[in-house]
Amino acid sequence: MSHPVPTLVIIGARGQLGRCLAALPIPNGWERKLLARPEIDVTDQASVDAALESVTRGVVVNATAYTAVDKAETDREQAFAVNRDGARHIALAAARHGLPIIHISTDFVFDGRKGGAYAESDPVAPLSVYGESKLAGEEALAGANPRHVVLRTAWVFSRHAACFPRAIYTALRGKPEVAVPDDQIGCPTAAEHLAEIITAIAPDLLDLAPDDPLFGLYHLAGQPALSRYAFAQAIEAEMKKQGLDVGKVLPRKTDPEAPGARRPANSALASDHFTAAFRLDAPDWRTILPACVTAYGDPA
Ligand SMILES: NC(=O)c1ccc[n+]([C@@H]2O[C@H](COP(=O)([O-])OP(=O)(O)OC[C@H]3O[C@@H](n4cnc5c(N)ncnc54)[C@H](OP(=O)(O)O)[C@@H]3O)[C@@H](O)[C@H]2O)c1
Repeated sequence: MSHPVPTLVIIGARGQLGRCLAALPIPNGWERKLLARPEIDVTDQASVDAALESVTRGVVVNATAYTAVDKAETDREQAFAVNRDGARHIALAAARHGLPIIHISTDFVFDGRKGGAYAESDPVAPLSVYGESKLAGEEALAGANPRHVVLRTAWVFSRHAACFPRAIYTALRGKPEVAVPDDQIGCPTAAEHLAEIITAIAPDLLDLAPDDPLFGLYHLAGQPALSRYAFAQAIEAEMKKQGLDVGKVLPRKTDPEAPGARRPANSALASDHFTAAFRLDAPDWRTILPACVTAYGDPA
């Protein structure tokens, strides 16, 4: 008896990562199902069950999240409803259909006090409600479906979303000087790269037994790690290279009194475990920054 054609199910298809996943070619011999609000509400188990009802073989990607890091401090219930309960609902529905799930988590599960890059075995200690809710999501998901790959990533940016490089681009076009923290270290990760890697590994997970060692928790973030200030300098340099008239990036310290969520000082992630398991290098964000800068200047 022949197997049904596998489906790559993208939940959250209109977010930053979801749009990149939707724009990629479908793996050979697969079909793709794109799901987004209002068609699916991940806070509602019945809605998730209904959306996955017809899928009998494939891999589910959870690209949904409550990502408003500062707002989450005063919107705890909704952050947990999406990031913890949503992850559990998707994992449960996927498990019922025998589908593995690829889920995205965050560097904000760490408190940032480590000297070097974080490994998967390092202790977690989120500083923010967002970080807490994402950590709770990892745990809820792992409890609901053993056939999971959790990818903790960081500082996600793309050519078509509101993100750090776009904000720096806009600020440098309008101001002579833009001060950026030089005491927050992390790994910028292009959503396009993340989407390519997720699409590449999905076929590896199809039909694997629940106890296969490929399932589990991984760090996957762009390299090299650097400070927000140094990242902004790279954006400034690229803008100049593209002939733009720009302001100058200046270093400053993080304001401890600033309203909103606390962010880890160092949340660099080591992706070695992922590289060894899937034989794919961590992506280099510098390869995609020029295309993003070009896109930020395009009024379309
Ligand atoms: N952005 C970063 O810097 C960063 C850093 C580390 C990790 N991550 C993780 O990377 C993943 C992708 O992030 P992203 O930047 O692509 O996020 P994003 O652009 O904010 O997209 C999140 C998507 O989730 C959808 N969503 C929210 N609540 C939902 C619900 N109840 N039901 C269905 N869909 C819902 C949103 O739908 P609407 O479009 O309808 O609002 C949105 O399209 C997330 O897991 C995030 O936590 C992001």
